[in-house]
Amino acid sequence: MAILVTGGAGYIGSHTVVELQNAGYEVVVLDNLSNASEKSLQRVEQITGKPVTFYKADILDKAALEDIFAKENIDSVIHFAGLKAVGESVQKPWEYYNNNITGTLTLLQVMREHGVKNIIFSSSATVYGTPAQVPVTEETPKGECTNPYGWTKSMLEQILQDIQKADSEWNVILLRYFNPIGAHKSGLIGENPSGIPNNLMPYITQVAVGKREELGVFGDDYPTPDGTCIRDYVHVVDLAIGHVKALKKIEDKAGLCIYNLGTGKGSSVLDIVHSFKEATGVPIPYSIKERRAGDIPENYANAEKAYRELGWKAQYGIKEMCEDSWRWQSKNPDGYGE
Ligand code: NAD
Ligand code: WQD
Repeated sequence: MAILVTGGAGYIGSHTVVELQNAGYEVVVLDNLSNASEKSLQRVEQITGKPVTFYKADILDKAALEDIFAKENIDSVIHFAGLKAVGESVQKPWEYYNNNITGTLTLLQVMREHGVKNIIFSSSATVYGTPAQVPVTEETPKGECTNPYGWTKSMLEQILQDIQKADSEWNVILLRYFNPIGAHKSGLIGENPSGIPNNLMPYITQVAVGKREELGVFGDDYPTPDGTCIRDYVHVVDLAIGHVKALKKIEDKAGLCIYNLGTGKGSSVLDIVHSFKEATGVPIPYSIKERRAGDIPENYANAEKAYRELGWKAQYGIKEMCEDSWRWQSKNPDGYGE
């Protein structure tokens, strides 16, 4: 039996394929390469010493999905495929709703037709909107999202919950990631944004490697100790291991489960800038800019439920996240070079 990993050539997907192969799972990857390079999978093979079965296919393409489900003996799906740039989603809402929602509905249709009813879905802390209190637990009510990307995650959570409610043969695990950063220890795989990075750590590493002059810190007048926003940064390898643990839960008939995947600790933007210098020796020049629209002052997880029910706990701290992000960027200044 194999695990189908949609979006498996991407940042979190490629790290998860490594951990799945290391845990002995047979893995089939599907990706349309809209935001990834196939080279990531060659690097995965280099790390694990195992071949990766890869289909270049789109989750909107029902016939292509049918072909994969007919050929491969799929047992469960880990569903990463989706568009994820917050700002772009404001400019191109139709593309985001179509890709993420229609794509997922198509995938679910083909899964159902082939009797595959196990899915782990990449959700996001963004579904909490602006939480009334931190840390957020899974019982914290979902909130108003500030952009179409966030709504696709929130709506897909609802869709998956309704499908599981109507048919208890489904096992649905919603994983709400906080802020994944870091890279595999080997420096062979990592985050590979195209164009100007939107997220903090890829921007920092591009400043460190000399591709950008300085970091703009978006606002220092938030109600936080140093005035910059606080987030729960979690190492991508910890996140990947969380998926392996979630698969075990599916094997025990999970039904519907929702977990926060974060460290439980908040760090400010300036904490990250300073930790990066401490961990790598590379200073990050920065200047304070205007607040970025849609940012919330503070968000971090209560991740105790994942520990209680999955036995998952983040192992790595900010120091390793900075060291590993830097190893990846400095060894691959142009990412996968495409
Ligand atoms: P990523 O862009 O690196 O990976 C997504 C992959 O999906 C890419 O390889 C892309 O080519 C592929 N893809 C997109 N649309 C597709 C389609 N229609 N058919 C087939 N493949 C398609 O992003 P990531 O950071 O690895 O994120 C993975 C998942 O986790 C996404 O669903 C994202 O929304 C979610 N997530 C990410 C973060 C984060 O900060 N990185 C946080 C929370 C949730
Ligand atoms: C972190 C902090 C910025 C860049 C996003 C999505 C969220 C989830 C994770 C997918 C913020 C500050 C950033 C820069 C800065 N993704 N910053 N200068 O916004 O917490 O979450 O990624 O689900 O949905 O919204 O992450 O890395 O963009 O920002 O000062 O150049 O760094 O203002 O406080 P965010 P981020």
